[in-house]
Amino acid sequence: MESFEKYTSNSATIYQGDCLEVLRAIDNESVDLIFADPPYNIGKKFGEFKDAWPSDIKYAEWCYQWLGLCIQKLKPTGSLYVMTSTQAMPYIDLWLRERLTIMSRVMWHYDSSGVQAKKLFGSLYEPILFCVKNPRDYVFNASDIEVEAKTGAKRKLIDYRKKEPTPYKSTKVPGNVWYFPRVRYRMSEYENHPTQKPEALLERIIRASTNKGDQVLDPFAGTFTTCAVAKKLGRFSIGIEMQLEYVKVGLRRLGITKQFKGEELLPLDKTYIRNNKNGMREESRKNQQGRLFSA
Ligand SMILES: C[S@@+](CC[C@H](N)C(=O)[O-])C[C@H]1O[C@@H](n2cnc3c(N)ncnc32)[C@H](O)[C@@H]1O
Repeated sequence: MESFEKYTSNSATIYQGDCLEVLRAIDNESVDLIFADPPYNIGKKFGEFKDAWPSDIKYAEWCYQWLGLCIQKLKPTGSLYVMTSTQAMPYIDLWLRERLTIMSRVMWHYDSSGVQAKKLFGSLYEPILFCVKNPRDYVFNASDIEVEAKTGAKRKLIDYRKKEPTPYKSTKVPGNVWYFPRVRYRMSEYENHPTQKPEALLERIIRASTNKGDQVLDPFAGTFTTCAVAKKLGRFSIGIEMQLEYVKVGLRRLGITKQFKGEELLPLDKTYIRNNKNGMREESRKNQQGRLFSA
């Protein structure tokens, strides 16, 4: 018997359960893009769940189980993006390169690690692997993700090596070091989760590797960032999350329901303490639309 719950809307399906079990119930070769952001085995607490395995090998073996299922679920033209800790990524990289083609090893870089390192170089990036099933047939919408190319846009340089001297292009496909600020409490997208990923990061991935109407899957949905961005961009999505508290965030964030078993699913009510223009400490609050109001 199935031991997971399913909630649906026109654009998204949420499953509450263990992704190892839920993935088995999803049709093979039915998904265009999988974004997998699992627990990293670094001892974080996700609500009831402690992100710690007895050893690196045991963690890697667990990853191989869900990665194997993800590969089955991908269409022959599909793409897989996987994140994990810098220390665990070598296990995943070595295993995946035997099964898929790794197109890029991306670094998501940010400006603060939260804790200031004093006796080592603080960690300011998380690795992301971008893999495809078939390197000759996959979606990559280069023109949808272009960023400013400084040589052409700011320095206005001319390429004199061409037959006719031509200005450099002012845009380019991003390289493999991506700067996006981490999701912080004051940001309107913030939800109560320790490792929520920025919408901007998912936007780049979904725009690059899917077309409108494609199916996106996230086996470790957390706050359902992937599904929320997929919806905004006109893609269908499936999000799997084990913990009810985060499933409720997803139900609200995706507009599936405003009530869950009699409980109203309200956006986070955020409180700020700041100095007002007279130098006095003032408490204010921000609602989900990002509007500030006095408490
Ligand atoms: C790193 S977080 C994902 C954060 C997400 N990308 C976001 O933007 O909010 C990993 C999530 O996986 C969930 N999780 C852990 N083990 C799971 C499992 N076996 N099946 C489904 N979800 C699981 C955790 O509860 C946690 O919310």
